[in-house]
Amino acid sequence: MNGSKLKVALVSSEAVPYAKAGGLGDVIGALPKVLEAHDCEVMLFIPKYSAIPEDAHKIKINWRVDDISIPVGEKNFEVHLYQTTLPGTNTKVNLVYCAHAFDNRWIYTNDADENQRFIIFNRAVLKILKKMKWKPDVIHVNDWPTGLIPLYLKTFYKDDPFFAETGTVFTIHNIGYPGKFLPETIYLAGLDQTKFFPGGPYEFWGMFSFMKTALLYSDMITTVSETYAEEILTPDYGAGLDGILNTRKEDLIGILNGVDYEIWSPEQDAYIAATYSLKRFSGKAKNKAYLQERAFLAIRPEVPLIGMISRMVDQKGFDLIAAIVPQLLEMDIQIVILGSGLPKYENLFRTLTQDNPDKVYVHVGYDNQLSHEIEAGSDMFLMPSLYEPCGLNQIYSLKYGTVPIVRKTGGLADTIIDWGASLLSGKKNGNGFVFTNPKPEALLDAIHRAVMVYSNKKEWTQIVKNGMKADFSWERSASKYIEVYEKAIAKRKIPKTET
Ligand code: ADP
Ligand code: GLC
Repeated sequence: MNGSKLKVALVSSEAVPYAKAGGLGDVIGALPKVLEAHDCEVMLFIPKYSAIPEDAHKIKINWRVDDISIPVGEKNFEVHLYQTTLPGTNTKVNLVYCAHAFDNRWIYTNDADENQRFIIFNRAVLKILKKMKWKPDVIHVNDWPTGLIPLYLKTFYKDDPFFAETGTVFTIHNIGYPGKFLPETIYLAGLDQTKFFPGGPYEFWGMFSFMKTALLYSDMITTVSETYAEEILTPDYGAGLDGILNTRKEDLIGILNGVDYEIWSPEQDAYIAATYSLKRFSGKAKNKAYLQERAFLAIRPEVPLIGMISRMVDQKGFDLIAAIVPQLLEMDIQIVILGSGLPKYENLFRTLTQDNPDKVYVHVGYDNQLSHEIEAGSDMFLMPSLYEPCGLNQIYSLKYGTVPIVRKTGGLADTIIDWGASLLSGKKNGNGFVFTNPKPEALLDAIHRAVMVYSNKKEWTQIVKNGMKADFSWERSASKYIEVYEKAIAKRKIPKTET
């Protein structure tokens, strides 16, 4: 690089503060700042969903990068570039606008043209980079919605000198979403249909998968915790892609997500009733009382309040919770849940709150303010995930003195240390309660243990302290990304041929 900055194009379907469905948005919103601190020049690319407010984010159209037309099958779609700067950084945010794909639709849809929306986005990013004459050293793409970019570089652009030295990094945030669509997607994406045959690069269980092509064609692959990087190599966690991943084992690296403590810290959280820290801990009780009031629960400082904020999908262990509802209702606890997702869970938890308003409060929907209030106001945080690539809420909870109860998987295993186990080992460094078996009894046991220790003020304070003192800032992960970028760049020296 001869001392010049590393040019990184970061491409994602979500980024805070513009568009967020889950942890991906948090990660992509935070990464540019850290990369800049490591001497990178970052260009961020996200779709311009029409609900993103232009004025609030100072978003302007860029007419100089114009006349972008993206073919999808026989149709052509017009794309425009909008731009702004990511607050607190020098990162230019490129918002890719296509009325057909992104007007009146939020991030993910179940619409029949979901594949087309992201084909347009992927192709447009590469065209825009060329039109801007901004030649990236690395293109870092994330999850299936950006998964075609490595493939396009090795097909459409394989002889293009502009991208001849560009390496690609693909980050798996969740292998459970392979971006699987009908085989006609290959034609719509302008790809070679002869490559669709059983076991071939464009075939995945009789369909086409954005994720599979990304795993095959990116120069380097990362995922968001070390344990998940090992788990996805096994059939139990690989979601059918473990075979492919095993062929790329040497190029797969687990890098734990960090936390943006400017957004997620009780010391400076603008959304909560009272700020607090380890030294000024009394604010925590105010937040608890505030949350109890907001959730129509009795304002009782002594009762353990268990919080949960989650997409309501199978991944997050809602079946385990559903199975222990009768036992939970017998305990002297309060439960506050925020989430949205599958109707079966939304309905179940709506009914639960209607029938037990003195114990349970469930808010079905997406509510950023309430998510901060739950982190600050709860005593414990529940994350019994069946699998969890990284998980951010358990890490946020640590900083808020809200003790996580988690299943030992993925990033949960890498961040939460069981209090009981740490007593046995004499280290007393536990920061939560951990169970292993994905069984309701195991979850119930962990909750029982947490509630029991909660009544022992000395032990509880120690657990809270262990959590609040921990530092999961991005700093520890940033240099690992730089190393991966350099490896991807080194690979660009190998001729880019289609395999
Ligand atoms: P995932 O990305 O699998 O959903 P993470 O724990 O990595 O899980 O991140 C979830 C992020 O999304 C957190 O910032 C969490 O606060 C937020 N979140 C999830 N559901 C909601 C909701 N219903 N309302 C507000 N924020 C939510
Ligand atoms: C995914 C995962 C979650 C992870 C997030 C950000 O949504 O489910 O575990 O924290 O991506 O990487």
